[in-house]
Amino acid sequence: MTEGTLLSVEDVIVDLPTPRGNLRAVDRVDLTIGAGRTLGVVGESGCGKTMLSRAILQLLPKRAKLSGRVMFDGQDLLQLSPEKLRKLRGRSLAVVFQDPMTSLNPVLTIGTQLIETLQEHLELDMAAATRRSVELLAAVGIPAPEQRLMQYPHQLSGGMRQRVAIAIALSCEPKLLIADEPTTALDVTIQAQILDLLAREQRRRHMAMILITHDLGVVAGRTDEVAVMYAGRVVERAPTPALFKKMRMPYTEALLAALPKIDAAPHTPLPAISGRPPDPTRPLKGCSFSPRCRYAWAQCHVEKPRLEESNSPAHQFACFRPIGTGAGAGA
Ligand SMILES: Nc1ncnc2c1ncn2[C@@H]1O[C@H](COP(=O)(O)OP(=O)(O)O)[C@@H](O)[C@H]1O
Ligand code: SF4
Ligand SMILES: [Mg+2]
Repeated sequence: MTEGTLLSVEDVIVDLPTPRGNLRAVDRVDLTIGAGRTLGVVGESGCGKTMLSRAILQLLPKRAKLSGRVMFDGQDLLQLSPEKLRKLRGRSLAVVFQDPMTSLNPVLTIGTQLIETLQEHLELDMAAATRRSVELLAAVGIPAPEQRLMQYPHQLSGGMRQRVAIAIALSCEPKLLIADEPTTALDVTIQAQILDLLAREQRRRHMAMILITHDLGVVAGRTDEVAVMYAGRVVERAPTPALFKKMRMPYTEALLAALPKIDAAPHTPLPAISGRPPDPTRPLKGCSFSPRCRYAWAQCHVEKPRLEESNSPAHQFACFRPIGTGAGAGA
């Protein structure tokens, strides 16, 4: 772990036993994030984004087997007691899930949930915790916050519920916020508002953030760095501007091509990536993307490319025929 690194994920593997055999949801992932930085994790549904975030949070399903190392703020999370982990999760490591109802308790008012979190982790008294709750709800754009404190989650819209979940996540000033598809369940207009809110609070609090999404468009302009995942692996990793300027991995290119174009005529069908990701209980010998890759050649079907850097150490990709290089595809 180098100086300034807040989180480092080292060679992390998550295996899940299933009736069809072992399912490798996360396959030897290495990632780092510095204090106050933002990392986007992007990939199609099922590629292991949530399992990776749950591995970091140590919130995997009971049957899951985790190997590797997760270092957060100088501590090895795999070595911490459940009690220490619980404290850490409320205090310096926070999460916002796709569905806010996963983290909100339906039978408690918004106020009780916020105030209890603040009392438990920051040891504030009732009056101070109530004041702070009102400030937090106002900060996440909830009108009439005093009244909202007395409401239950079901009395709010989906967008408002996600704002409350964000307020709870931010309440203890975490050092790292993991936002796992925080806007996927929301209307398009609300999505941008929530993403802007997260970006604003992240900068204001100098908090690090991992923004997980299936949509490459979401991380553009909102993250410092992007890791693209495919079939449980990180297949390309680069500073965000470099990724969009010079993507090397055919899968990243396909993800970009699958984005709706702003200037496209209305009702233009989306050029979805053809084919499906491989069955994670039946790993392929070669590159996991080879059955779908338009650049694949013989080597791709028999050998697995490793994540390696090219001329820039910050830009890594796992591909035998990287786009735009002398030896590669599209050259
Ligand atoms: N509780 C579970 N038990 C077994 N397999 C699971 C479980 N949750 C997810 N998976 C499988 O793990 C893989 C990764 O899933 P996930 O991390 O949820 O992907 P993503 O978040 O990128 O959509 C998928 O193949 C999925 O079917
Ligand atoms: S290694 Fe081969 S199959 Fe895999 S992405 Fe690169 S060119 Fe395509
Ligand atoms: Mg997910």
